[in-house]
Amino acid sequence: MSGDLKFPKKFLWGTATSPTQVEGHVVNEWTDYVASDGGNCRVACDHYHRYEEDVGWMARLGVNAYRMGIEWSRLQAAPFAPLNQTELARYIHLLDCLKAANITPMVVLHHFSNPPWITAAGGWLNPATIPAFVDYATKLSAVLKDRVYLWNTFNEPDTYASLTFLLGGFPPFHKWHFRSYWKVIKHMAEAHAQASRAIRQNKFPRAPEIGIAKNWTSFGAFQAFAFWDHLLAEISHHAFNRFVLDEFLGGERLKASTFLGVNYYGRARLNHFRALVPTNNVSPEELKNFGIVSDDMFERHPTGFGKLLKTFQRKYNLPIYITEHGAASNDQDFRIRDLTAHLLELHAAINHGVDVRGFFYWSLLDNFEWQFGYSKKFGLLSVDFNDEKLPRKMTGVGEFYQKICSTAREARRS
Ligand code: NOJ
Repeated sequence: MSGDLKFPKKFLWGTATSPTQVEGHVVNEWTDYVASDGGNCRVACDHYHRYEEDVGWMARLGVNAYRMGIEWSRLQAAPFAPLNQTELARYIHLLDCLKAANITPMVVLHHFSNPPWITAAGGWLNPATIPAFVDYATKLSAVLKDRVYLWNTFNEPDTYASLTFLLGGFPPFHKWHFRSYWKVIKHMAEAHAQASRAIRQNKFPRAPEIGIAKNWTSFGAFQAFAFWDHLLAEISHHAFNRFVLDEFLGGERLKASTFLGVNYYGRARLNHFRALVPTNNVSPEELKNFGIVSDDMFERHPTGFGKLLKTFQRKYNLPIYITEHGAASNDQDFRIRDLTAHLLELHAAINHGVDVRGFFYWSLLDNFEWQFGYSKKFGLLSVDFNDEKLPRKMTGVGEFYQKICSTAREARRS
């Protein structure tokens, strides 16, 4: 397919990771956590020590962009503290390696983890976290302004707030604390607005682009006439999509973002109040009986992707980056089909006039998938976690993506 579709010449074909999931050696609320498969994030892919090798892999893949986190807990030892120069130098070296490989970085400031002193002070329930975060964003962007123009403040605030306080999946593992969910979103949205203003106050050689990455799950009822499932789907849509987007992008707040990042994986359909997705422990056999196509995480719904992009364009009129899409599976043909179907939708949306500027495949590496540990295989490169050298290997979908990137590179040259 790579040769058949024309994407804009300046389109970013990237891949993505996050610190806790790949770096290893982090000290945050995940350090002592043991996932359902017995795994922990203490070494992860050891990207912390192997980032040069990983940039080499990115160059081989041919990506021209990389969405990466900078781990707050490494850089500040206390609120308003100066940045840790050793850790900063390491990230700067990584950014310089990317530059040498012609790979544009997008930096994520918050990806499901916090410094221990933030957690100890109540995390995102505490309004004092807002100025602390803004201070971090201000200091970091001042140092990196010559190297980074793409800034992603928050990754999936809805996933973070719901798994910490509604669904009990992320530390501190609370369930059905609705007020806490609401508070975390409110505080993060305010922090986004303030951080965006602070980042822009630096003199960037290239105007900074700033946005959040919103996870999008469509909710629906599996059966047409299931009134209560429809109602629950509607409530979920309001709580996880509408409310969150209104907080971050509604009214005056829209000005805080120059782009909208979209993480798109699929949909969740409800059957007797039960979400029919693998992450909800619905077995592959059962999903098959329902006729549901899924990877090892979510129901796939490529047509929803195209529709969503058009809706976002109409509603917010902001440039869009697909900050994440990918499929977790050992079946490489499935992953290739999934990527193809989503890129076809993306291409059609762009032709329809939606201003999409980049696509970041989740993920560069098989990695630590939070509650599920190492059991979900999202990598363009596989990692053998049984071998202490953690060897990386190109996957089938990696080779496929490599062809797409290489066609895009030729188109850029012509
Ligand atoms: C979105 C999250 O940002 C990322 O951390 C996670 O690994 C992927 N979804 C897959 O679940």
